[in-house]
Amino acid sequence: MSSSVAVVTGANRGIGRCVAEQLADRGYTVVVASRSLDQARQTVAELSSGDRSLLAAQVDVTDEESVQSLASELTERFGRVDVLINNAGVALDKFQPFEATSTSVFEETLQVNTLGAFRVTKALLPMLRVSEAPRIVNVSSQLGSLERMTSRTVAYRASKAALNAVTRSVAHELADTPAKVNSVCPGWVATELGGLDAPTSPSEGARGIVWAATLPEQGPTGGFFQEGTPLPW
Ligand SMILES: NC(=O)c1ccc[n+]([C@@H]2O[C@H](COP(=O)([O-])OP(=O)(O)OC[C@H]3O[C@@H](n4cnc5c(N)ncnc54)[C@H](OP(=O)(O)O)[C@@H]3O)[C@@H](O)[C@H]2O)c1
Repeated sequence: MSSSVAVVTGANRGIGRCVAEQLADRGYTVVVASRSLDQARQTVAELSSGDRSLLAAQVDVTDEESVQSLASELTERFGRVDVLINNAGVALDKFQPFEATSTSVFEETLQVNTLGAFRVTKALLPMLRVSEAPRIVNVSSQLGSLERMTSRTVAYRASKAALNAVTRSVAHELADTPAKVNSVCPGWVATELGGLDAPTSPSEGARGIVWAATLPEQGPTGGFFQEGTPLPW
């Protein structure tokens, strides 16, 4: 098998879909992983054209069994993963003040945004280690920056700050390998999550993620970026 394999979670819509499209245009075989297999298949059908190579897979990042079965499917099919984009995310407490945020919303946010990326990375790491140039991109947010922390949206902010901690820790653990592990904020992007007032298109938002997914050997690891520029933790 010649082309590199990229896995994108939450690739059926929004930024993830554009990341899948842009990686396919760069010659990657892209696994469009979505909570709904039907939606993954529909996305693959819509994005397939020319030389693009895309395939559909099911994954609910909150469900250990679903993550394990994705890993088994990829092991059987490719035996290797070169790029993992932990993109699946939710923002359930947008603009909510602290006192209005329920414990269950906080828990659910952590389940998707933080533990989801943890689960998928852990399950796919044996295959990433087989790659000559593994790249892991955790799609984070400026709202998770401790330095820029302000009020409201505490669950989402905390989930992305914790995701950034995962990025740094995994990058450190893989420091003696060719792997690059980074967090990327796509900017404020017009999607269902970002809302339609956002100034950045999903395709523009995807660019900084694709940059981190395609870093050269001398590229950075363990960083937090937006459009290739470092952000404060
Ligand atoms: N938009 C912004 O302004 C912005 C800014 C900073 C960071 N981000 C981050 O960018 C990433 C993508 O967001 P987006 O704006 O493209 O949002 P979006 O359009 O709402 O898409 C979110 C994606 O995540 C998937 N997802 C949610 N829960 C999941 C689960 N349990 N398992 C698997 N997939 C799940 C959704 O799948 P379903 O269709 O099945 O729900 C959907 O594909 C997120 O991590 C978000 O936090 C976005």
